[in-house]
Amino acid sequence: MSDNVLNIKKEENYYILTINRPHALNALNHEVFTVLDQFFTQYYRDYSVKGIVITGSGDKAFVAGADIKEFSTLDAVSGAQLSKKGQDIFFKIERFHAPVIAAVNGFALGGGCELAMACHIRVAGTNARFGQPEVKLGLVPGYGGSQRLIQLIGKGKATELLLTTDMVNAHEALELGLVNYVVEPGNEVSNSLEILAKISEKGPLAVDKCIQLVNAYFDKGADGFKNEYTDFGELLGSQDAKEGALAFVEKRKPVFTAK
Ligand code: CAA
Repeated sequence: MSDNVLNIKKEENYYILTINRPHALNALNHEVFTVLDQFFTQYYRDYSVKGIVITGSGDKAFVAGADIKEFSTLDAVSGAQLSKKGQDIFFKIERFHAPVIAAVNGFALGGGCELAMACHIRVAGTNARFGQPEVKLGLVPGYGGSQRLIQLIGKGKATELLLTTDMVNAHEALELGLVNYVVEPGNEVSNSLEILAKISEKGPLAVDKCIQLVNAYFDKGADGFKNEYTDFGELLGSQDAKEGALAFVEKRKPVFTAK
């Protein structure tokens, strides 16, 4: 599957997705959403896929937000629909069975910051800039930013950034806990692939369940502790956990089969 606005490249068991609208600083328009949605729907629970890297085309922007030029035709109803659609796609990313890493290579503003925050891990180039500028446009974030920014950096700083629309640079983002790593520009994707390689050696079912357990902490309808003991038991009955224990005893690397 490939499309102009989203370049999809397979590398070993990983996919590198490059949002490709550099003339609009990779702003998320209807078309980008459609192909992102298709991709994450198609590969959900395909355990042969061990990880995804999302990045932006060019060296200026990861994603500069939702496509503001599409807003002029929206009203209260269609605006809410767009916001819900964006949230649903970002939930698919957040709930993906394998790690999704945002390789942030420039501006990550509005919907771009929200996309990065929906990913499980963020690697920023030193030229990355993060912000939620929506109130400048007379709007609020629409793709989960008002919630995930608090989850990542806490209420006080999140409120300040949402209201002032101040941008933070990569090192500030690292200090705030908004990103996991800061790297030299151009190394965002390779560094992300190194992280994926480390995770891909682990039990794929366990990686999936760990991701969902972390998500459960923020899900008001879920009981994360209950999910944890249920998942722990379920995994103990899996072939992978038996292989993991056997490999430990036999002092060799486990061969996991996602069963
Ligand atoms: N939507 C549509 N087009 C965008 C865009 C966006 N979010 N961001 C940039 N562009 C376009 C510009 O219109 C411009 O196109 P033209 O050459 O056709 O005029 C091109 O990208 C280059 O941008 P600039 O000339 O503005 O570049 P700059 O270096 O001077 O400034 C910038 C860079 C500070 C990122 C500036 O482009 C900017 O402020 N962009 C908008 C950022 C923003 O407000 N994002 C939030 C969008 S709303 C949102 O995301 C809501 C949500 O949560 C769902």
